[in-house]
Amino acid sequence: MRIKPWLAGLSPYPPGKSLEEVRRELGLKGPIYKLASNENPLGPSPRALKALRKSLEDIHRYPEASNRALAEAIARRFGLKPENVVVGNGSNEVIDLLIEALVSPGEEILFSEPSFLMYEKFGAAAGAVLKRVPLKNYRHDLEGLLSAVTPRTRVIFLDHPHNPTGSVLSGEEFEAFLRALPPEILVVLDEAYGEFVRDPQAVRGVDFLRRGFAVAVLRTFSKAYGLAGLRVGYGLMPEDLARVLNAIRQPFNVNLLAQVAAVAALEDEGHLQRTRRLTWEGLDYLSQALSGLGLRPLPSQANFLFVECGRPARPLYEALLRKGLIVRSMEAYGFPEALRISVGLPEENRALIQALGEIL
Ligand SMILES: Cc1ncc(COP(=O)(O)O)c(C=O)c1O
Repeated sequence: MRIKPWLAGLSPYPPGKSLEEVRRELGLKGPIYKLASNENPLGPSPRALKALRKSLEDIHRYPEASNRALAEAIARRFGLKPENVVVGNGSNEVIDLLIEALVSPGEEILFSEPSFLMYEKFGAAAGAVLKRVPLKNYRHDLEGLLSAVTPRTRVIFLDHPHNPTGSVLSGEEFEAFLRALPPEILVVLDEAYGEFVRDPQAVRGVDFLRRGFAVAVLRTFSKAYGLAGLRVGYGLMPEDLARVLNAIRQPFNVNLLAQVAAVAALEDEGHLQRTRRLTWEGLDYLSQALSGLGLRPLPSQANFLFVECGRPARPLYEALLRKGLIVRSMEAYGFPEALRISVGLPEENRALIQALGEIL
């Protein structure tokens, strides 16, 4: 056999520790709070759960291969056509499909450093050349990205809000960026946290898609909709591109339960609104309380806070872990003095602040 040479050095995605692992390793007795993966602390919509229970009896059948009902529900929500929608096994799969459709070995993909890990993971697997542009003031450096473009650039990934900082771009900045790019480059706005954005100036990718710009917008049911464990996300994009992605993906890429739950979750506007309210109140509370402890949380348009601690953050991360609070150390992202903290339930947020107060 001959494995493709560019795959030799790749390793699997490093998963976070499970609650049980943490409990066992640290011998913790009390409650453990996971504020590390930007999940919905309210859990899934009760309507999604009900639809799931009903569909359990149908799992001897294959799901709908076209994901049609879900694509229609998504299209209705955004005023687009189902032909603009690609549903995936998490939005992760849509990232992979976009690269597969657009990037040949040796061609370039461009993204900020740090960014969501999957752009580089799927890019590397496709044999793409990975080009990274450092953030500027914790935001995407659009000028820097523009100057990194070459004739071999095929796709630019922008996580928006940015993960891990929670920063956003204005519609104006984004439009100027798009207009300065050669038309053969696709810009992907990864709006995994799009439902949490409060800033009315922030870009909404779908507005640009409706205006005919060649952009792809990624969204997910893993965050605001509380369905991370089912793995379902989607991309909104020009019809000709969506047609190709739907042609190359697996026929049953989204399982039956995920399809049914996602349709029901989309219909439960009340649960989404409760989630947003809880998140925004949590962000406000945590920002104020963390600042009160002498730390520096950045303004965030997502459901997490990037916190500059002004000292090495790993000891803080480890001390929190010993108290049963799992957050994310930003060392591996190039910020050894920062933590990323997901907004939890009010009692989880209070427990975090109390624990940090004791540690500091
Ligand atoms: C920026 C960003 N994009 C995409 C995803 C992946 O979402 P999904 O669960 O839909 O694959 C995440 C999840 O952490 C993310 O932070």
